[in-house]
Amino acid sequence: MREIMADKDVLILGIESSCDETAASVVKNGRVILSDVIASQADFHEKYGGVVPEIASRMHVDAVYPCIKSALEQAKVSLNDIDAIAVTYGPGLVGALLVGLSAAKGLCAVSGKPLVGVNHLHGHICANYLCFDELKPPFICLCVSGGNTQIVLVKDYTDLEVLGRTRDDAAGEAIDKIARVIGLGYPGGPKMDKAGQGGNVTAYTFSKTHMGDTLDFSFSGIKTSALNTINQSKQKGEEINISDFAASYQTHIASILVKQTVEAVKRTGIKKVSLAGGVSANSFLRKAFDEASNKYGLELFYPNLRLCTDNAAMIASAGYFEFINGRVDTLDLNALPSLKLGK
Ligand code: KG4
Repeated sequence: MREIMADKDVLILGIESSCDETAASVVKNGRVILSDVIASQADFHEKYGGVVPEIASRMHVDAVYPCIKSALEQAKVSLNDIDAIAVTYGPGLVGALLVGLSAAKGLCAVSGKPLVGVNHLHGHICANYLCFDELKPPFICLCVSGGNTQIVLVKDYTDLEVLGRTRDDAAGEAIDKIARVIGLGYPGGPKMDKAGQGGNVTAYTFSKTHMGDTLDFSFSGIKTSALNTINQSKQKGEEINISDFAASYQTHIASILVKQTVEAVKRTGIKKVSLAGGVSANSFLRKAFDEASNKYGLELFYPNLRLCTDNAAMIASAGYFEFINGRVDTLDLNALPSLKLGK
């Protein structure tokens, strides 16, 4: 398939609906974004303090075809020009995934275009290819989104090995939950990031978790130690200094993410490191990686902020690499809410 495609541009329509963003995009050759349409539901879920799955599914139903139509129009192409339709089939909220997946299958059924199922986390990794033309595997990717935290060895465009993963909460979850407890609301990550600007990063301390000889993570104990600090302050009638607390907490989480990633670099000898997923937008994490980069001579890649969080361009990019590697799914492809990365 690679040779057949080599002399011709390959256009992929990507569709994403795994959580609270409905998105569609057209990407050329896995690296050039021709359109990138996102309909975010975040404002609707804010009053509930988190994503309400049924509301998310219903809103995806309203938004999915308008997003696809806009993505084709903005790219100035028709469905006929598209080589394959790539869609997220997991991990994510099952009802939400089914909307994008059914829309993609419907389009494939009527147009005869190939369907390519994409792992959402693979999409996050591929956001890096959309930002850096020069980035080629192998590299290490720290994938940190709302529901996942893992260190991935990207051996080739579609050959991924998970070197370490969280055993409980994702880093994003640990930030979002504490953000809610200290009254910052939803979505917590960006609000916590903003609140911590200028704060004292050593004002508060949190527990450390030892993961033995593994490259795994554990954030639930750290989250509990943050909750204990908040509760103890309340019992003493003292106010938490929100800015200092946010700065200390995010710096602590960032130091753990960096430590394990640097360990992965040492074990593999690969110094090219990328970040991926919503939490990779975090300024404390980026600062910690910048410092590690100077210390250990890393070559760092951060996707731009818009491509860190959920979007369909990254799904189209991952779909492109899967497609040219020969992946085509049948129309009975189902949603897999707990889909894992790697073999
Ligand atoms: O990748 P993403 O959009 O969705 C998933 O696939 O999970 O990530 C969403 C996560 C949320 O936890 C959100 O709070 C977090 O990314 N996030 C941030 C920042 N921007 C988004 N977390 C910390 N700092 C940020 N600046």
